[in-house]
Amino acid sequence: MIVLGIESTAHTFGVGIVQDKEPYILADARADYVPEKGGIHPRESSRFLASMAGKVLSEALSEANVKPSEIDAIAVALGPGLGPCLRVGATVARTLSIYLSKPLVPVNHSVAHIEIGLLLTNSRDPVVVYLAGGNTMIVAYNEGRYRVFGETLDIALGNLIDVFAREVGLGPPYVVKGVHVVDKCAEEGGKLLDIPYTVKGQDVSFSGILTAALRLYKKLIAGKADYTLNDICYTVREIAYSMVVEVAERAIAHTGKKEVLLVGGVAASKALQEKFKAMAKYYDVEVKVVPPKYAVDNGVMIAWTGLLAFKHGVTIDPVKAVVRQRWRLDEVDIPWRK
Ligand code: FE2
Repeated sequence: MIVLGIESTAHTFGVGIVQDKEPYILADARADYVPEKGGIHPRESSRFLASMAGKVLSEALSEANVKPSEIDAIAVALGPGLGPCLRVGATVARTLSIYLSKPLVPVNHSVAHIEIGLLLTNSRDPVVVYLAGGNTMIVAYNEGRYRVFGETLDIALGNLIDVFAREVGLGPPYVVKGVHVVDKCAEEGGKLLDIPYTVKGQDVSFSGILTAALRLYKKLIAGKADYTLNDICYTVREIAYSMVVEVAERAIAHTGKKEVLLVGGVAASKALQEKFKAMAKYYDVEVKVVPPKYAVDNGVMIAWTGLLAFKHGVTIDPVKAVVRQRWRLDEVDIPWRK
């Protein structure tokens, strides 16, 4: 079975082609929108994604060396994500599905981050820590769905460190040679400053950290501080990462699961991984991390999740395949894990 998957939830137009036997990945083509300055503007990103769609699609088909007629289904990430961007992928997928007379498979982008992590790390039943620019969630599979054991109440962890980096002039780019600029800057720091550590029940909140860190930065550039930018980065890193570890720790204690799987763009942080390893030792739990190439958005994860879903009869009428900007992963039935 061969499935083509389309990712276009935010800043990446990705097309992946996978099959249900090794080697699973037949093609991985992508184009990333990089804003000249500031954050992602949904409409500008969607224009970029639309302009790249044809090129990325034909790149994937030639890399996989498959004819469109050999593809069994078209999978597409219908959410969660930015409306204008999602609509680009949905339009391309609906068109392909109708034109090629192939079934269309709806995929939840967050579920796809988990499934590609499970495939590439050989994890079986982990507590999943999903950390990205738009998402911060601790989830675990239970009775047919991925259940949320904790999440952010406001901004995502990736958003916190990217916006902080931007406001203090460390980025973009936010990741240099695989290391986030805030992590890098934190290496030279060592003074823990006063910023809020906000865990409420099982949820976390990062917006207060951002406000406090920017206030500390203002004081620093006004020459009224006895600390450095490195110390602020160190504090942001220590506090924010520790909050996530605390919530994951309780999820592990509660579920009794023996693996932790880190997925999403922030999972690549070595500092974060070290914190998780220290905690995991205590619980005799194994820490697994999705390879960096597949930690970020890509079409392969959509194709792979689409393949799992399609094998269990999940399809959608192209006419009804509308995007869902706030599609939560705990609303998705996961028949392939039963
Ligand atoms: Fe993502």
